[in-house]
Amino acid sequence: MTDDRSPYLLWTPEGAPRSGRFDDVYFSRQDGLAETRAVFLDGCGLPDAWAGRGDFTVGELGFGTGLNIAALLELWRREGPADGRLHLFSIEAFPLSRDEAARALAAWPQIAPEAQALLDVWPQATPGFHRLDLPAYRATLDLAVGDAAWALAQWDGRADAWFLDGFAPSTNPGMWSDAVMDGLQTRSAPGARLATFTVAGAVRRGLAQRGFAVDKRPGHGRKRERLEARAPGAAAPPPTPGLTAVIGAGIAGASLARALTRLGRPVVVIEAEAPGAGGSGFAAGLVTPRLDIGDGAIAALYAQALRRAGDLYATVPEAVTARGVLQLPGMARDAARFPKAAAQDIWATEALKVLDAPAASRRLDEPVDEDGLWMAPALAVRPRL
Ligand SMILES: C[S@@+](CC[C@H](N)C(=O)[O-])C[C@H]1O[C@@H](n2cnc3c(N)ncnc32)[C@H](O)[C@@H]1O
Repeated sequence: MTDDRSPYLLWTPEGAPRSGRFDDVYFSRQDGLAETRAVFLDGCGLPDAWAGRGDFTVGELGFGTGLNIAALLELWRREGPADGRLHLFSIEAFPLSRDEAARALAAWPQIAPEAQALLDVWPQATPGFHRLDLPAYRATLDLAVGDAAWALAQWDGRADAWFLDGFAPSTNPGMWSDAVMDGLQTRSAPGARLATFTVAGAVRRGLAQRGFAVDKRPGHGRKRERLEARAPGAAAPPPTPGLTAVIGAGIAGASLARALTRLGRPVVVIEAEAPGAGGSGFAAGLVTPRLDIGDGAIAALYAQALRRAGDLYATVPEAVTARGVLQLPGMARDAARFPKAAAQDIWATEALKVLDAPAASRRLDEPVDEDGLWMAPALAVRPRL
């Protein structure tokens, strides 16, 4: 049986991870970390490029084992601007499991804390955008599980630096397609730096045609050359955000204020009565996803939102009164929608499941005469503690 998203991981006799799908290694077991530092970190002019920046965004094509990002986090910890925030965006169509990544990253004790930080938040291999918080590094990682061209079109950020680390264009042209190149052009900040190990003519031409100034540089180790490129314009820090006023301290307002505060943005909350005074202060609330059968991107967003909400409520366990929610059909079309929702690949295995009427009755401990949708990661919570 084939799996659309499996990298078909193999290990070389030296212990380096190898993609069976692309028949290429993720990194060299001898000097993979040194190569990452030379090709991507130095290639993007780091740490100098982020000097004096309050926010800095790095994009990557090909998350793989997370080695590049772990090495970047280690440099950021040592040489990042004080109080600066690092935004990471990486794309991976064929994710490694956490265990596979742990085995791969164990090769680099020099970056063990950063590898562990990534492993601690390693996401499920479900398609869509996974936001992973790395507060100890003042960093967030948006990991898009999906094809590079699709993910670049979905992303609305702008990178100050790009690590182009797909497998070689000869074996993996999809990672270097016109659509990907267009995405790099659109989603680069002025003066953005790009770095890659390949000097393939098609890559150089593709970047140059889109306005990047492209330079061959001496390669790392036995590789003769590597590439650096720069987007037109001068790198400029984004304007300092002003104060945001959030009106209303219900669940939506409070969540927004919390998210902005975590990004280091100044916030004032204006509330006429008290936090949770309105509907958000009811005795019980359900944390359930909005089901969307038609639009995969929206459905994936709500699946991710449910996962993040679960992480948040795990920090206040006394607010959680029950785990798992059974949704019964509210209207006639629900009976057909439930199996379609449960079959969406955005959910972890067994997260959503249709229960027939007898199973639903047992679950509720009361008679039910219709099938229901069991949502295992959904919660019942007590808003007022
Ligand atoms: C050389 S490896 C990346 C190594 C990685 N940067 C690291 O630090 O371990 C290339 C990665 O690109 C991924 N990839 C290949 N084609 C892709 C595509 N079209 N869209 C997204 N990811 C792709 C592969 O699955 C692989 O993980």
